[in-house]
Amino acid sequence: MKVPLMRHFQTAASVLTHRLPISKNLKILLMEENMKLCMNGMLYALSYALDSVEGELLGVSTHHAERVAYMCVTMGRELGYDAGKLSALAGAAVMHDNALTEYVAARRSGGFMDNVLTTDLKPHCELGEKNMHSLPFYEDVTDVVLYHHENADGSGPFGKKTDETPLFSRLIHIADQADNAFHLDALTPGKYDELLEWMQLYKGRMFDPELVSLFGSVFRYDVLEKASGQNIVTQLPAALPVYESDYSNETVLDFATLFARITDYKSHFTSVHSQGCAWKARRMGEYYGYDSTVCTKLYLAGALHDIGKLTISNDILEKPDKLTPEEFAIMKTHAQASWNILRDLKDIPDIVAWACMHHEKLDGSGYPFGKKAAELDKNERLMACIDIYQALTELRPYRAVLPHEKAICIMRGMAADEKIDPDITEDIDQCMRSPV
Ligand SMILES: [Fe+2]
Ligand SMILES: [Fe+2]
Ligand SMILES: [Fe+2]
Ligand SMILES: [Fe+2]
Repeated sequence: MKVPLMRHFQTAASVLTHRLPISKNLKILLMEENMKLCMNGMLYALSYALDSVEGELLGVSTHHAERVAYMCVTMGRELGYDAGKLSALAGAAVMHDNALTEYVAARRSGGFMDNVLTTDLKPHCELGEKNMHSLPFYEDVTDVVLYHHENADGSGPFGKKTDETPLFSRLIHIADQADNAFHLDALTPGKYDELLEWMQLYKGRMFDPELVSLFGSVFRYDVLEKASGQNIVTQLPAALPVYESDYSNETVLDFATLFARITDYKSHFTSVHSQGCAWKARRMGEYYGYDSTVCTKLYLAGALHDIGKLTISNDILEKPDKLTPEEFAIMKTHAQASWNILRDLKDIPDIVAWACMHHEKLDGSGYPFGKKAAELDKNERLMACIDIYQALTELRPYRAVLPHEKAICIMRGMAADEKIDPDITEDIDQCMRSPV
C-alpha cells in the first residue's frame, strides 16, 4: 500500500519528535548517573552505517561521511580549533547526511527523491537538524546541519548567504560538494586539478571565497590523497584528537534512540522494531531490578542490534513475499554487519555483545558465530528473546500482529527445541503480559 507523500512526511516528522515512554523513577535515576563514552567511536559506527545507505541510494562512494569529516577537521586544524571544537566539527560532519534513511522512507511513498536531489533539499536539512538535537556536542552545533546545503550567493534551499551561514556549515558544504562532484575515494592528479579549477569557478557562487582559498592551501595533492580508498578508515581517527567524556545516562539514551530511529526508517515493515526492542530490553532490566546504568545499556543494545540492516538492500528488506534461500542468506548477513559496525566500540564491549548475539541460538544453530548455550550470557540470551518477541508482536506484510499469548506460545516451542532460554521466555511472559 502506498502512503501519500504528505502523510508519510507527517508520519516521519512525528516519529522524530516522539519520545518513548520513560518511567518517572527511571528518568530521575538517569539524570543522576553517568556513563563514560568515547562519542567519536559511536559517531564512526553511525557514519559507517549511514554510508551503506548512501552508497545504495545515491551511488556516492562509500566512506563519504568520514571523508567529509576528514576534510573539515584538516581545515579546522588550520583555523586553530582546539580538541573539543575539532570533535564537534567532526561529529557534525559525520552526521551531515543523517536523514538519509528518511530519504529512503520518503522514496518508498513515491516521487520525493527526485525533488530531494534537484530543487527541494529543505526536508533533508530540516530532518537532519532535528536528529542532531539528540546528540551531545562539546560545541553548540545548532543550525549546522540545517544550513549545510546553503550556497554563498544565497541560491541554496534557505536562501542564506555566506555571512548568514555558520562556519561549520560552510566547511561541511565545501567538503561535501567536493566529494559528491569528484568522488574523492579514487583521487588522481588529473581529477585533483579539475577539482581546484571547479572550485575557482564556483567561488562566491556556491562556496565562501575564503574557504576556497583555505581548501587550496591546505589540500595539496598528497594531503587529499590520504582520504582516498580505505585509507580514510585510519586517517580520520589519526587526524582527530581523542575526546572522551562522561555522558549522563539520559544523554546516552537519547543518542541510542537516534540510532534506532535511523535504522528503523530503512524499512517500512520494521519501522518500530529497534525502538521497540530498546524499550522492551530496558523494561526487562527494570523487571530484573538492574541499576539504571545497566538498564540504559540494555536500551542501547536494543537500539543498536539491527544496525547491520542498513547494509541490506531494500529490495530484500521490503519484499512482501517469502524470501528465496539466496535472499534469506543475504538477509542473515545483517548480524555480521552489525558486528562489523560495532566491534570497534572498545569502551562498551558488553553492549556490543548483547546487541550482536541476538540471532545466536542455544543449540549452536544461530548466526553469525554459531555460539552455544555455554558461550551466551544472560543478557545476550535476553536480547535474542526480546528480538523474537518484538518481531512476533509487530505487523508483517504476510500476517497480522500476534497477541502476547500467541507470541509466548511460539517462544515456548522454540525454548523446548533448545533455541532460546526457557526461563527468560517465562520472565518476558510475566513482565510484558500487561501494558505499561
Ligand atoms: Fe546533505
Ligand atoms: Fe553528503
Ligand atoms: Fe536481526
Ligand atoms: Fe531485530
